Amino acid sequence: MTANTVVELDHATIAVGHRAVLRDVGFAIQAGDFVGVLGPNGAGKTTLMRAILGLLPPAAGTLRVFGKTPKFGTSTIGYLPQLRTVLPDLRVRGLDYIASSLHGERWGLPSLAAADRHAIEETLDAVGASDLARRPLSDMSGGERQRLLLAQALIGKPKLLLLDEPLISLDARHQEVVIDVVRRIARQRGITVLFSAHELNQLLGAIDKVLYLGNGHAALGTVDEVVTAPVLSRLYGTEIEVLRAGGHIFVMSRGRDVERDAHQHDHDHDHGHGHAHDHHGHEH
Ligand SMILES: Nc1ncnc2c1ncn2[C@@H]1O[C@H](COP(=O)(O)OP(=O)(O)O)[C@@H](O)[C@H]1O
Ligand SMILES: [Mg+2]
Repeated sequence: MTANTVVELDHATIAVGHRAVLRDVGFAIQAGDFVGVLGPNGAGKTTLMRAILGLLPPAAGTLRVFGKTPKFGTSTIGYLPQLRTVLPDLRVRGLDYIASSLHGERWGLPSLAAADRHAIEETLDAVGASDLARRPLSDMSGGERQRLLLAQALIGKPKLLLLDEPLISLDARHQEVVIDVVRRIARQRGITVLFSAHELNQLLGAIDKVLYLGNGHAALGTVDEVVTAPVLSRLYGTEIEVLRAGGHIFVMSRGRDVERDAHQHDHDHDHGHGHAHDHHGHEH
């Protein structure tokens, strides 16, 4: 562990119930790194973020965040959860929604301290969402709402940002906007980012490192170090081929693109749980 280590796992086993999702894994994420968190559905991306937040202590080994055992509720970590099903009352204005996360109230603060109002406006401005302050959430497109949620994750001036599948249900253009906004703010403020996604390609230009999870294992490194046939074959537990073409990387198993398949599966999954697309606010 160096002074620059933000997240460190050492022989850590992260379990949900009796099931080990990550088994005896070790890696260290350095300050300021923008890390893409990849891996098939169920690999443990969300579980890892919950562990880093302090919601799930390791079953074995150690997990340290800023050198300490993570404690849930610290403002040094900003979090955008994957399951955004518990959306607030959509009549609420952007400003009230962000304000509610400052003090934990649900919504509709009668009056905001000037300092709070300033912090909120600064954050909305940083994600290019100033114009959203006075609009109700029901009025916003998926991309706009996503920027608002991002502002919410940034409000306590975190040093570590955990973004769990922030690109889901956004079209390609809005995905790029979200990636660019996160990248820019993280650079400006020296924030370390864990950004989970289905697809590596959209993140290639933005990430410093990739943390690939699968089969209970984890591999952290540059894209060239991690996204290789031997490493991914171990993580998928099956023979994987890595093809590069036109600046894209394709992770294939027996001729099928595994990332694309996972994506398909996840959409089916969403439907199964009745999360209508409108809920996430698909772009039109
Ligand atoms: N609340 C839970 N109860 C039971 N199993 C869970 C729960 N949350 C996650 N899991 C299981 O833990 C594993 C990792 O899930 P998850 O972290 O959501 O993966 P990912 O985010 O990479 O898709 C999966 O097998 C999933 O079924
Ligand atoms: Mg997940």
